Amino acid sequence: MRDRIVAGNWKMNNDFNETEKLLDQLKSYPEPSDVKIMIAPSFTQLYQSVQLLKSTNISVVAQNMGIAPSGAYTGEVSPKMLKGIGVNTVIIGHSERRDIFKEDDNFLTKKIKIAIESDLKVIFCFGEKLEDRVLKNHFEIVANQLKVALLNLSYKNIMKIILAYEPVWAIGTGETASAAQAQEMHSYIRNIISSYFDSKVADKVPILYGGSVKPSNAKEIFSESDVDGGLIGGASLNAEDFMNIANSF
Ligand code: 13P
Repeated sequence: MRDRIVAGNWKMNNDFNETEKLLDQLKSYPEPSDVKIMIAPSFTQLYQSVQLLKSTNISVVAQNMGIAPSGAYTGEVSPKMLKGIGVNTVIIGHSERRDIFKEDDNFLTKKIKIAIESDLKVIFCFGEKLEDRVLKNHFEIVANQLKVALLNLSYKNIMKIILAYEPVWAIGTGETASAAQAQEMHSYIRNIISSYFDSKVADKVPILYGGSVKPSNAKEIFSESDVDGGLIGGASLNAEDFMNIANSF
């Protein structure tokens, strides 16, 4: 069976005190035994989160990472720095990084390479904008974005990738892809993985859905056969909502 994963992307939320409070609340809920729970706080809260979650199975993920092992990159954080504090997974390619910070395919290709070489796992995000869907270009856009993640990977390294399909029009908008739309795209994505590798590999790579997942819609979305969990933004800032989502399989 593929890993089931529910990951909370906190984005630029939760300072030191808020992190302590939210993690205390999270720890008061029983962890589902068959779901991997992850949280992605800001850089400044990573070490604190790793320490506070030591007694749990919840893992801590970085939201971003620099594009070199070290060097003159003011404001950046290296993979080694992440690993040194117990962070073994990084989100790459989030639409907010693509849109606001202009991270393009070229840049993301470098980032994935560095992450993999540094033995970090990658949650690779991608997804079409509203205009792409309206023009019915969404499959083509997704296929092109996936190339960045898949093209140079070996059979061994593809196992370090978790994919997160996040249609931009559903992020933070309250609008969600229907379960059928999510399944249609996830199955398309799995076929693409199969074409780069083979069906056995495709069967193992977790594909998460992200975009306004809430306790009220998680069950329906997670019930689809190619949806292996979610990357949760807004709802991950509330412990009860997040744990309800984690229990929605
Ligand atoms: P929302 O759940 O707030 O729509 O955000 C999704 C997201 O961007 C997760 O990375």
